[in-house]
Amino acid sequence: MTKTDSRVLRAELLSFDADPGEADSPVPGSVRHYPDGALWVENGRIRALDAYASLASRLPEGVEIFDYRGKLITPGFIDSHVHYVQLEIMASWGRQLLDWLNDYTFPEELKFANREHAEALSEAFLDEMLRVGTTTAQVFCSSHATSVDAFFAASHRRGLCMLAGKVLMDRHAPEELTDDTLGGIRDSERLIADWHGKRRLGYSLTPRFAPTSTRAQLDATGAILRNDPSLWLQTHLAENTGELDWVAALFPGSRDYLEVYEQSGLVGPRSTFAHGIHLDQAMRGRLAERGANLAFCPSSNLFLGSGLFDRKAAREAGLNVTYASDVGGGTDLSGLATLKAAYQVGQLRGQPLTAWQGFYGLTLGNARALSLDDRIGRLAPGMDADFVILDPAATPLLARRTARCRSLGETLFALMMMGDDRSVAETWAAGRCQHRRDHQPIASG
Ligand code: GUN
Ligand code: ZN
Repeated sequence: MTKTDSRVLRAELLSFDADPGEADSPVPGSVRHYPDGALWVENGRIRALDAYASLASRLPEGVEIFDYRGKLITPGFIDSHVHYVQLEIMASWGRQLLDWLNDYTFPEELKFANREHAEALSEAFLDEMLRVGTTTAQVFCSSHATSVDAFFAASHRRGLCMLAGKVLMDRHAPEELTDDTLGGIRDSERLIADWHGKRRLGYSLTPRFAPTSTRAQLDATGAILRNDPSLWLQTHLAENTGELDWVAALFPGSRDYLEVYEQSGLVGPRSTFAHGIHLDQAMRGRLAERGANLAFCPSSNLFLGSGLFDRKAAREAGLNVTYASDVGGGTDLSGLATLKAAYQVGQLRGQPLTAWQGFYGLTLGNARALSLDDRIGRLAPGMDADFVILDPAATPLLARRTARCRSLGETLFALMMMGDDRSVAETWAAGRCQHRRDHQPIASG
């Protein structure tokens, strides 16, 4: 018989049961909050949570209790759009999207033909994700199948819930990154067979964006998706005005950018479109009707000078908005930093983001939009035990600021504006502590 792995963490607990809305105060019933709570973790899942006084009295003998008072536990953060292969070209100066791709991105992605490089970067990327409290992401690999094998193998070893896929490009990229149309599709099918549904992994079909795929490649991708609706799809949409002009020239038979994807059957409830800055309300409505989501990537949009995402218009169209780093266009992997940039973009548009909406977005909101909310995104019995232990006193200045906070909403806002990897005391995934900020080296001798 396998041994039961069971423990309780005592801390402040925060989780969302529903969208808290856009007002300063969350919609009643949307927030689950225990100022002195207990989270019972057993065999990789959450067994129970409650006020400490209530849960402690019901615990069987022998369950160990760990004291994290002063810390705040939330579900692990989710990043709906990130490129692991761009980790080392973050902060590359002076270009906007199309030149940035040619000058920095494509040369970097060429390196992922090499298996050892892909393995080393997969490990480095996952270390960094866990350091910032992110336990799940939807990830672009490179065009090389080997980059996907390396990423999924590394995620699998750590027991992480990850979505990823091989970039599909059959034109307008360096030759060594360009698929022959059907070869790229066959590679994707092999990767799906090997990885999709393997424990906590899922495959996301990954045509890079309309300009780098022929209609034939987009159609073949749509055919795979139609045959297996359990697959995900990720691509880019309407990020940059130069890109828009290029798409219009390449696809004269489509009335707008979104229709290029619609015509190939790529817009569905498991489709994530990164950016969606330059859209009209009719396009937002069409995305909403299909249940797709737009990944809002604010640090990337600011860094690449792409534009200011209109979150309010997306919400009004009934469209799911997810939050994403988009590293290496993004300047920070941290979900807290993403919220900070989202707040700043919102301020420039007269639509400031509340901390409630931000933390909901990073957790249950992203999980729902990615159809992962049956497993992650909430602290609730039966859910996978993926969570982050935040430290509101991580730095002297943050401690000074949060000491003045009179409500949870204020503390969350201070964390989202001032927090970073130092605010993440521990990250747990699959019921195990996989990152500890204050890791003490084992003393020798
Ligand atoms: N559009 C097509 N490829 C990319 C990419 O790698 N990053 C971003 N931000 N936009 C893209
Ligand atoms: Zn991207």
